[in-house]
Amino acid sequence: MPTTGFTTINGVLHADQVPLPAIAAAVGTPAYVYCANTVRDRFRRLDDAFAGVPHHIHFAVKANSNLHMLSLLRALGAGVDIVSGGELFRALEAGFGGRDVVFSGVGKTVAEIEQALRAGVALINVESEAELVAIDHVAGGLGLTAPIAIRVNPEVTVETPHAYIKTGEKGQKFGIPRDDVARLIAMIATLPHVELRGLGMHLGSQISNADPLRDALPRLLAAIAHARAEGHPVTYMDVGGGLSVPYEPNETSADLDDYARLVRAAALETGLTLLLEPGRYLVAESGVLLTEVLYRKHAAGKDFVVTDAGMNDLIRPALYQAYHAIEVVRHTAGALTADVVGPICESGDFFAKARVLPDVQAGALLAIRTAGAYGFTMASNYNSRPRPVEVLVDGERFAVAGAREQFDDLVRLERAPLHWRTA
Ligand code: LLP
Repeated sequence: MPTTGFTTINGVLHADQVPLPAIAAAVGTPAYVYCANTVRDRFRRLDDAFAGVPHHIHFAVKANSNLHMLSLLRALGAGVDIVSGGELFRALEAGFGGRDVVFSGVGKTVAEIEQALRAGVALINVESEAELVAIDHVAGGLGLTAPIAIRVNPEVTVETPHAYIKTGEKGQKFGIPRDDVARLIAMIATLPHVELRGLGMHLGSQISNADPLRDALPRLLAAIAHARAEGHPVTYMDVGGGLSVPYEPNETSADLDDYARLVRAAALETGLTLLLEPGRYLVAESGVLLTEVLYRKHAAGKDFVVTDAGMNDLIRPALYQAYHAIEVVRHTAGALTADVVGPICESGDFFAKARVLPDVQAGALLAIRTAGAYGFTMASNYNSRPRPVEVLVDGERFAVAGAREQFDDLVRLERAPLHWRTA
C-alpha cells in the first residue's frame, strides 16, 4: 500500500519531518494539514500508470480547492476539472490557463458558460439537451465556437460506500442517458457554434473495484465510435474520477494497475487523448484534520471525547456515515471506547462512534486522517464557527496555505445597513 507523509517518530505523529504538535502550537486547532510530498507521490503514480498513452490528468478542484494545493498540482503538470465559476476563478488565480480546464457539472449558468468560453477552456462537458442549446447560444453571442464533450451516463451498476456518491446509474441527474446520445450527436451537427471534441463519463466516487468501469467502457466506446462515424472531430475520451483510497485500517483501495489496464486498453483502441478527472486519489491521504480534545465526558454508560473540530469543519462522517481513522498525536497509554464528537448542537456532529482509542485526556491532539479531499471544501460556518486554518508541509518546513477565518469574516458581508427597495 502506498505510504503517506504521516508517520510516528519517537511516539509523536509527524507530517513529513514536522511534528504535528509544533504546527498546533504555531497556528492553533482545528487545522487542516496537507503533505505536499504525498500529493506529488500520488500524481506520479497515476501519471506513470498511463505512460505511453497520450493523457492529461485534470484534478477535480472540488476535492481540495486551496490555491497553494492547485499551484502544487499545476507544477506537477496537472490540469483541472471544474464545476463552477468560482472553481474556474480559483484555477485561473492559481496560474492555470483556460486550455488546462475541463468544465463539468449538471447546471451551468449562462454567466458561467460565458466565463468559461472567454477563458478559453479546453472542453465543456454537456449534461443535457437544454444545456447544449444554451452553450451554442452563448458561444454564438461571443462569436466563438464552443469545444464540447458529451457526458454519457452509461447506466451501469455502481458500488460506492454511500448512495450519494454514485453518478453513473440509470435514473440519476448526471449525463446524457445512453439511449439519447445518438440523438444529441445528430443535433450537435445542426448547431453552428459548438464542436464535439470529446465524449466522457464519470461513474461515481470512492469506487473500489473495476466492475463498473468494465461495464461502462464499452458503452462509452460505442458512443465515441458513433460520433466519429458521423464525422465529428473527436479528440478526447474522458473517464472522469472515482478512484478510491483506503480510509479504514487494512482497507483495500482501488487497484491502480487494474484500473489503468482497463482504461489504457480502451484509450489505445480509440487512439484518442485520454482525460482523467481524479480528485480524492490525488489529495485525500495527503491531509489530516488536527484537533484538540476539549473534554472527556461520561454519560449514560458511554464515553465521549469532545473535540474542538465539528461537523462544520469535516462533514463526511455526518453526511455519508464515512469512516475516518483517528490517531492520537502523542503516544498515550491505556484504552478507551468512545464516541468522538464535536461541539455542535446536533447529534450528527460526530467523527467516530464506539471507537477504540488510547486513553486520551483534555488537551490531547488528535489527527483525523484522510481528510485532504472533501474536507475543507465542504466546511461551513454553521454555528458561526470560523473555518479552520490550512497548512502545507513540505519536508522539514510548513507554511499557512489558508488563514483561519476570523469573527469579522463571519459578519463582513452583512454589515451594510439595510437598503430597502420596492418592486
Ligand atoms: N469528475 C466529476 C464530474 C465529478 O463529479 C467528481 C466528483 C470527480 C470528477 C472527482 O471524483 P473523485 O476522483 O474525487 O472520486 N463529497 C463526496 C464526494 C463527491 C464527489 C463528487 N464528484 C465525499 O466526500 O465522499
